[in-house]
Amino acid sequence: MLRGDLACLEEKDVFIETVLELNEISAGRLFNPYWALTERSDKQLDGTKRQFDSNISKLWTAVEALIAEHSDDKRSHVNPEEKQSDFLTSLIQGHSEENPVFLRNIMVTLLFGGRDNTQNSLSWALYELSRHSEWLGRMRKEALELDQAGSTPTFANLNSYVVHLAVFYETVRLWPGLPKNARYAIVDDVLPAIPHLDLPEVPVSKGTYVLWSDRIIMRDPTVYGEDAAEFNPGRHISPDGKFIKPALPNFVTFGAGPRYCPAATIVPYEWVCIWAPLLLNFDFEGINEEARDVGDTLTNQMDKPFMIRVRSLDKQELLETI
Ligand code: HEM
Repeated sequence: MLRGDLACLEEKDVFIETVLELNEISAGRLFNPYWALTERSDKQLDGTKRQFDSNISKLWTAVEALIAEHSDDKRSHVNPEEKQSDFLTSLIQGHSEENPVFLRNIMVTLLFGGRDNTQNSLSWALYELSRHSEWLGRMRKEALELDQAGSTPTFANLNSYVVHLAVFYETVRLWPGLPKNARYAIVDDVLPAIPHLDLPEVPVSKGTYVLWSDRIIMRDPTVYGEDAAEFNPGRHISPDGKFIKPALPNFVTFGAGPRYCPAATIVPYEWVCIWAPLLLNFDFEGINEEARDVGDTLTNQMDKPFMIRVRSLDKQELLETI
């Protein structure tokens, strides 16, 4: 999606547009187990199903084109080294024997799971940091000190970015990737007890449609204390300055069980790699401080646009900001 020239930021993009609409329609379906019937019923002949199907087909066509382009690798604008190292080419080569529909569906899942959540976690961080500028300052100070010590973020040294990690985990605790979610029980089951929260086992009968909210769980004072609804990255830093990684069952941002997010370990790394260099070069200021909430989408997009002013910093200004 991103190229060297800024014009690409203004262009319409089939992936962004289709995923956004599919996201909104899927959110409506989550709370309506009868959607397959009601979307066809007289009252709801509002084009929802047609719109969903048309978006899916546009998305599939675009993904199939992407796969074809990378499979025969005739891309003249990409140098040979990049062709071998890009993620999609490796994925396709690793699955050369697979059914093309399987590969296409993997790509769609990765686009949906990977792009939206990453983008949203960055947006919510900008939102929280513009309301809590002391944490933006602390992140920048950390980025600068580590940079001056000759360090750049790598997977191995990630834990030295204590403030960055604390801000990331606190952002996605308050604004988790999927604020609401659902499962349909295909067999009788039992949700395990959580003794330290005094929660007993919960039997779930076959055929039950279970809805829950990661967002409500992690803002509950019984789970995260009296200040559960406050943005306080300090809760993930120990008194001696070490990062305390939030864990299940209290921290459910990446889900739990067999569908646990496969990117849960890479995402904090990706997030630090984005923020640390940005803070050494730019300052960010929220333009409109009005409170935001999640929109009516499946993933956690803001209900209204959040505009920020970005200002580039020279070396002198950088030192003055911390
Ligand atoms: C802040 C970033 C992210 C958050 C908060 C997040 C959150 C989640 C959650 C809650 C689930 C479980 C969904 C469920 O149980 O219904 C999930 C699944 C998944 N995530 Fe992530 N995710 C993030 C980033 C990513 C990235 C970057 C990728 C890929 C590059 C990714 C790929 C996936 C995939 C493929 C699944 C489906 C796993 C399965 O169903 O077996 N996610 N994610």
